[in-house]
Amino acid sequence: MQIAIDGPSSAGKSTVAKKVAQKLGFIYCDTGAMYRAATVLAKENGIDYGDEEQILAKLSQSEISFKPSEKGQLVFLNDEDVTLAIRTPEITNNVSQVSALPKIREELVRQQRKIAGDHDIVMDGRDIGTTVLPNAEVKVFLIASASERARRRYDENIQKGIMTPLAKLQEEIEIRDYKDSHREISPLTKATDASEIDSTNLSIQQVVDKIVELANNAR
Ligand code: DC
Repeated sequence: MQIAIDGPSSAGKSTVAKKVAQKLGFIYCDTGAMYRAATVLAKENGIDYGDEEQILAKLSQSEISFKPSEKGQLVFLNDEDVTLAIRTPEITNNVSQVSALPKIREELVRQQRKIAGDHDIVMDGRDIGTTVLPNAEVKVFLIASASERARRRYDENIQKGIMTPLAKLQEEIEIRDYKDSHREISPLTKATDASEIDSTNLSIQQVVDKIVELANNAR
């Protein structure tokens, strides 16, 4: 069974997707982490974030993979653990540019389908239900208000000792929403057959339960 979870940034997709995968014993693929790893690849090789051909040349010779560990799922770019490197502000602020490059999307969609293979999988991103896994048995479009998403990110940052004003976080979220929804190729859109879940007033567990219920009903 394939479960596709799409939605805007910071709506809680990866937290929820991980828990759904754990609960059902499925593998979990975070496609946002793959676009971030491609951005790290550009940075490490001194390639401009808009240079589609050069990034593609490196990317098609690279493998992005996920490995379970006691600290949670690790992200590897070839042999390098980039789990932390993909979350720096430099990468977060430039990943929209890399993910808007058509040939980079094409290559990563190919890698994502290969990872999915014929496994039971939960995959989260922006274009999973529409493009990567159009035949997924369960499709969820997870949303939350921009102010609630900024508040969640603010609380997470405080726990990590990062102080960013709430208003700035909300502004960054709105800018990313705009870029993700307005790019030419595979913009963030709800698949016509996706179930929309608004998590603004729901706990993580409530969202997980709803998705597990959708999966059980689809069996
Ligand atoms: O979910 P995230 O914040 O880690 O995603 C990072 C970026 O990658 C974000 O700008 C949207 C983009 N992305 C995408 O275009 N398609 C996907 N399937 C997943 C992420």
